[in-house]
Amino acid sequence: MRVYIIGAGPGDPKLITVRGAELIARCPVVLYTGSLVPKEVVASAREGAKVLDSAGMTLDEILAVIVEARDAEHDVARVHTGDPAIFGSTAEQMRRMQELGIEYEIIPGVSSFSAAAAALGKELTLPELSQTVILTRAEGRTPMPDAEKLEELARHRATLCLFLSITLMKDVVEALIPSYGGDCPVAVVHKASCPGQQIVQGTLADIREKVKDAGIRTQSMILVGHVLTSTDFANSRLYDPEFSHRFRKAAKTPKDATP
Ligand SMILES: C[S@@+](CC[C@H](N)C(=O)[O-])C[C@H]1O[C@@H](n2cnc3c(N)ncnc32)[C@H](O)[C@@H]1O
Repeated sequence: MRVYIIGAGPGDPKLITVRGAELIARCPVVLYTGSLVPKEVVASAREGAKVLDSAGMTLDEILAVIVEARDAEHDVARVHTGDPAIFGSTAEQMRRMQELGIEYEIIPGVSSFSAAAAALGKELTLPELSQTVILTRAEGRTPMPDAEKLEELARHRATLCLFLSITLMKDVVEALIPSYGGDCPVAVVHKASCPGQQIVQGTLADIREKVKDAGIRTQSMILVGHVLTSTDFANSRLYDPEFSHRFRKAAKTPKDATP
């Protein structure tokens, strides 16, 4: 018996991995986070499978379902939104499973930050502009470690992806403007990859008002950084004809040709 912790992807049922979908179709017990995982993702559960929404459950209740499945020798598809490794509250479940000697395996998924970048048609890392992506959140009811306060992270001026922060736009903007500047581009992607997808773009100076006007208050990714609007970024080395790498030799330059 094994618990498969499966990343369902950002919402579009076609963005789950083949392996994740196969396991959902095979496991006799399917436990999914119904707050964000759409029903279509678990609709392929096999006939007679026990399909339960964990949105209203406590950790103990989730573990009770898993223990009952273990006793019946039934595999469990534990389906989480996006990628289970990012703000998934999966670690506490895995810790309890380890204590109980229950085997588990993680099947990764497409995170909502990737889906948001895709919706915008953007790359989050650009040569010489930003080579770092910070995945984080604003401080809400969950306290942030001191070294990870937004003001601190902002000093890097890296590309930022903010989860769980759409209702905290005032704090976000106030924390970021001193380092990024009010003219720094921001994009808010609501329900990336889902039918109700909405995109709001602006700057740190005006995004709060724009998000308010759009009435967006849930399920959104906030992306911050100059990569969102830059067009004059340098080309990467990867396709540079004068740059050799493991898969391609550089063309001979006149200098190389000198005896
Ligand atoms: C509990 S976290 C789960 C993140 C998830 N594990 C992932 O990798 O995307 C929920 C937050 O993820 C973001 N999120 C999840 N699905 C989203 C989507 N389809 N579009 C935009 N943001 C999304 C929102 O910031 C939301 O508040």
